[in-house]
Amino acid sequence: MRILFAASECAPFAKAGGLGDVVGALPKALHALGHDVRVVLPRYQFIATWNKRRHLKPLGVPLGSDELWCGVLEGQLPGSDVPVYFIEHDALFYGNQPYQGYGGGVNEMARFALLSRASLQLCRFLDWVPDVIHVHDWPTAWVPVLLNTVETGPDFASTATVMSIHNMAYQPRFSPDGLELLALPDSVFVSDGLEDHGEINPFKGGLYHATMVSTVSPNYAAEIRTPEFGAGLHDIMNFRGADLVGILNGIDEDVWNPATDPHLPHHYRVDALAGKAANKAALQMELGLDERPDVPMIGVVSRLNHQKGTDVLIGALDGILSLDVQVVMLGSGDSGMEDELRHRSHYGLGRFFAWIGYNERLAHRIEAASDMFLMPSRFEPCGLNQMYSQRYGTLPIVRATGGLEDTVEQCDPETGAGTGFKFNDLYEAALYATVIWAVDVYRTRPELFRTMQLRGMRKSMGWDTAAKEYAQMYEWALGRKRG
Ligand code: ADP
Ligand code: GLC
Repeated sequence: MRILFAASECAPFAKAGGLGDVVGALPKALHALGHDVRVVLPRYQFIATWNKRRHLKPLGVPLGSDELWCGVLEGQLPGSDVPVYFIEHDALFYGNQPYQGYGGGVNEMARFALLSRASLQLCRFLDWVPDVIHVHDWPTAWVPVLLNTVETGPDFASTATVMSIHNMAYQPRFSPDGLELLALPDSVFVSDGLEDHGEINPFKGGLYHATMVSTVSPNYAAEIRTPEFGAGLHDIMNFRGADLVGILNGIDEDVWNPATDPHLPHHYRVDALAGKAANKAALQMELGLDERPDVPMIGVVSRLNHQKGTDVLIGALDGILSLDVQVVMLGSGDSGMEDELRHRSHYGLGRFFAWIGYNERLAHRIEAASDMFLMPSRFEPCGLNQMYSQRYGTLPIVRATGGLEDTVEQCDPETGAGTGFKFNDLYEAALYATVIWAVDVYRTRPELFRTMQLRGMRKSMGWDTAAKEYAQMYEWALGRKRG
C-alpha cells in the first residue's frame, strides 16, 4: 500500500507533544511491514536544510486567488528509508514552533491550509498517488474535506483518508472567510460539516469527511462518544461510530531504551538494574536535591495545563512532599502554573525541583532516575510518558482515564501483578492517597516494587502491533472508498 502521512509535527524534526512522536515512529513500523510510506510536513524555519536534498522544481500550490510557490526538501526518518518531504514557504512557516496559537502572529488558518493543499500537490509533483492519506488532528483535517469537494479529479478518485484524533481539546475556530482560501464551496459550511456556531472548525469538518477515523487508544475511542470526553463532538463520534477505531500508540523502543539511551549517564537493563540507582544519584547531584539513595523520587514530564491535571498536582504537592519524597518536574504550558512551580522550586529545600521549559535530555534523565512517575490527567487520549516510564522501570501513578487505563496495570499486592498505581477520581485527596500507597509499597514491600518494575520493563510496547492494526484499518478504509 502507498500511504502518505500529512502532519504538522514529526519527531525529531518538529515536535510539540506526542503527535510528533507518533508521526516520527509509526511510518517506520509500517515501512517494516512492506508498505510504501512517506511523510509530508512544513519546513518550519527551525528545521535545518543543510542535510536535506532540495528538489529543483518548485511546487505550485493554489491558495485563495494566488498560486504560492513552495520549495520541496527531502530527508528521511532517522534510521530508516522513509522519505520525509518538507514544504518550504518562508512567509507561512516562519517562527520557532509549529503552533503559535491565537495572537501568535502566524495566520494558522493559512499555514495549515497551505500544508494540506500542498500535500496533495506534492503527490502530483512526485507522480505518486497514495492509496491512503493519513491526517492528524485539525491542522491536516483539511485534506479529507478537499478530497470530497475541490479535489474530485481522477487522480485521487480511489484514495481513502484516515483522520487520527490525538487531542480533541484543540479545536480552533476560524472566520468563514477561510473557505475562500481553499476554494471550498458553501455546501461544506453546514452543521454536519465544517460549520461550528457560525465559524469554521476544521477538526469537525475532518471528522465528517474522512473515510475512517481513529484515535490513539481503545478506551479513549469509547470515552469520546460521551459528553464528558467528546469536547462538544460526541454526537459526531456516535454518528461515525461504525468508522471509528481505537488503536493503542506504541513507543519508539530504540529512542526510549535505558540500555542505549545517549542522554543517560548510566545505562541499565532488566537483568542489570544497578545503573538505575546511579542515574538517580546523578540527577540528585545535577539538580541540587538531597543526595539520598533511599528517598523515593517521583518524576513528572508534562505539558502544564488543565488536561494534564497540573492544577490538582499543585494542590496535592505539599502533602506529597510531606511524605519525605523528592519530586522532580519538567514542563511548560499555562503561565500561572509555570510561575507557581518556579516559585515552589525556589523554596524546594532539596526535595522539589521544577525545570520550566522543553528539554529532551532532562525528560530522558527524569524517566531513568525516578522511582515513580506521576500523570494525573483529566483526560488522556493515549499518553506516552507512562509507557516510557514502564520501559525505564519507573512505576507510573496515573488517573485511570483514556490510554492510561489501557496501558497501566493496577498493582495487586496479593498476586504481585501490576505495573503501576491507578486512581479513578481526579481529586487531590485521591491523588495523595495513591502516592501514599505507592510510597508505602516502595518502603515496605521492596520485592513487590521490584517485581512490578521488571514486569513493566519486559512489556512489549513497540509500534509493530499498532502498525498491523493501522494496515488493517487502511484496508477497511479502501474497502469503504470503493464501496
Ligand atoms: P501530550 O502529547 O498530550 O503532551 P504524550 O504523553 O502523548 O502527551 O506525549 C508527550 C511527549 O512530549 C513525550 O514524548 C514527552 O516526553 C514530551 N514532553 C512533554 N513535555 C516535555 C518537556 N517539557 N520537555 C521535554 N519533553 C517533553
Ligand atoms: C496527544 C494526547 C496524548 C497522546 C498523543 C499522541 O497529544 O494528548 O495523550 O499520547 O497525542 O497520540
